[in-house]
Amino acid sequence: MMNTRSVRRTAPTHDHPALHAILERHAGRPGPLLPILHDIQDQLGYIPDAVVPQIARAIQRSRAEIHGVLRFYPHFRSQPPARIRVEICRAESCQACGGDALQAHAQAVIAGLPEDQASLAPVYCLGLCSQSPALMINGQPHARVTAERFDALLQAALEA
Ligand code: FES
Repeated sequence: MMNTRSVRRTAPTHDHPALHAILERHAGRPGPLLPILHDIQDQLGYIPDAVVPQIARAIQRSRAEIHGVLRFYPHFRSQPPARIRVEICRAESCQACGGDALQAHAQAVIAGLPEDQASLAPVYCLGLCSQSPALMINGQPHARVTAERFDALLQAALEA
């Protein structure tokens, strides 16, 4: 019969070479958890559950602490991202300039696509307030976005 300890020891790990390099790069630095999580997400596109025990060991924190940080910050993804990531600004200036209608339009359009093709998430100010409403598609900012312009941008991203 297998006990809990042996299950833990044989739990899957994520042996991506980038993970080892990231953990080594931050070894011994103060407050390394958030920089490590950002680097992993930048490299892998998300933070797989399987890397949490390795991070915990490397920085001598509990897995629960790391899961807590991951849950606290919506920026961190635990699943691979969709091919096209749309982030619409939901802050005041953009809301006052048609952001709600743009959000509703984008939501309806993206809901009609296969789940792995596009995702929609809020962001809070992209520094483009004077050109609201603004959004990002795969990290690329766009300003003064109308529903028609959104459709064109999304179509271009789908065809890229
Ligand atoms: S409020 Fe949307 S970019 Fe600043």
